[in-house]
Amino acid sequence: MRKIDVFDTTLRDGEQSAGINLNTAEKLEIAKQLERFNADVIEAGFPASSQGDFEAVKKIAQTVKGSIITGLARSVKSDIDTSWEALKYGEQPHIHIFLATSPIHMTHKLKKTPDQVVEIAVESVKHAKKKFPLVQWSAEDAFRSDPEFLIRVVKEVIKAGATTINLPDTVGYATPSEYGAMFRHLKENVPGIDRVKLSAHCHNDLGMAVANTIAAIENGADQVEGTINGLGERAGNAALEELAVALHIRKDKFTFGTDVKLDEIKRTSQLVSQLTGMAIQANKAVVGKNAFAHESGIHQDGMLKERTTYEIITPELIGENSTQLVLGKHSGRHAFKNRAIELGFELSDEKINEAFKNFKVLADKKKEISEDDLYVLLTDQQIQEEDVPVYELKSVQVQYGNGSIPTASVSVISPDGDLLQEASTGSGSVEAICNTLERLVKGTVHLLDYRVTSIGKGRDALGEAVVNMTYNGKSVTGRDVAQDVLEASAKAYLNAINRQLVNESKKSYAKTV
Ligand code: KIV
Ligand code: ZN
Repeated sequence: MRKIDVFDTTLRDGEQSAGINLNTAEKLEIAKQLERFNADVIEAGFPASSQGDFEAVKKIAQTVKGSIITGLARSVKSDIDTSWEALKYGEQPHIHIFLATSPIHMTHKLKKTPDQVVEIAVESVKHAKKKFPLVQWSAEDAFRSDPEFLIRVVKEVIKAGATTINLPDTVGYATPSEYGAMFRHLKENVPGIDRVKLSAHCHNDLGMAVANTIAAIENGADQVEGTINGLGERAGNAALEELAVALHIRKDKFTFGTDVKLDEIKRTSQLVSQLTGMAIQANKAVVGKNAFAHESGIHQDGMLKERTTYEIITPELIGENSTQLVLGKHSGRHAFKNRAIELGFELSDEKINEAFKNFKVLADKKKEISEDDLYVLLTDQQIQEEDVPVYELKSVQVQYGNGSIPTASVSVISPDGDLLQEASTGSGSVEAICNTLERLVKGTVHLLDYRVTSIGKGRDALGEAVVNMTYNGKSVTGRDVAQDVLEASAKAYLNAINRQLVNESKKSYAKTV
């Protein structure tokens, strides 16, 4: 069985999805889970793009040792040098440099001739090689590049010292046979190509990213790039959980596979969805809520007689635990802590105590606390960031009747420590809360999107609200969870504001040091 390396770019290409903004603590949490999922390489961000990304990549390189940590860089010396400062802490420092090679990109975006592009590519790889033992070079928009030019530039960057060559279908335009053919063509025509790792990176604009990636492997790719839940620019990247499960389930056909820990898929997918605020479509392959639901009578009948009639993947394969062990209001701190350790959380005593307090409050309202609830409570503690003064919700009250105007009264503690109170109306309860909060917080807010979903199953499931807004001209997403969706909505609104306050305080701190 040929082993295919998995390169996860959830924290870079995935984070480029519209509406996603993760802070350092959240990125670290996802990176630790990707390590458990057994990604061979984790692309932790784009260090030269912002102070926040730099810090997050550095923190991940310092902490996560079971996967290779990489960061994206343009083909410029300053990007490569900045990336080194963040990535040098990794066990095997790895950089990912890219440069566009298609006529469209070279002419209109780079405004460079093909000769200039070859020269820049070679110079940047040589510069990176002075520091990094592992240098991945990507020909952006490789699929729409002239095949002969691609052969030339790839040959030169291999000579310059690149250790991995990535051939992306940047705009998701390829079909499986065409994408596979590009790999075969390079394999047959580039001297020295067998000395490097060949990598596939597919976007999903035409819904073919996973199929294209498999075609690349069949034609010589050694590494696959993708994201959890298929996040990424526009329609996203190849979904790694789909890819890993497809190779496993069809091992009768494929002669290659990954080392992904399949039973970590569910947890990885949920964590990414929870922290990015990107809901998973119910019928999404492998991780959607309906992926294992059998609705029609004929299917249910078949399932009862013999599961394999309609089920090719079991929920257990991806770590979905059908007999979820639960805790209740009488569970003590000791049982709670043991459960947290069993679930893989490493929390300080202080954080366990805080999570336990929240658990008790929830257990008073809800009879049984499910594993999904525990993940939310414990992850929330794990991602608590540094102490920047922010808004805190004190109380929210809504008056609603179908014949009257919804009115919300809200009180918050401001970043200066003052108790602020306001009341306002709206055409619905949520709008009344948002209107009231808009009066309470300093600055200009424009609400762009709002969504509520349930976490887990059952009538007493927790409600999660996600709010996307611009605050002081910057787009930001907030999320929070509560048993009541109106409280979750108010908290998610403040979470978005608070994230922006933390970002602003980091920027002003960076200017002073
Ligand atoms: O899609 C793409 O081409 C990329 C590169 C930066 C590798 O994400
Ligand atoms: Zn991409």
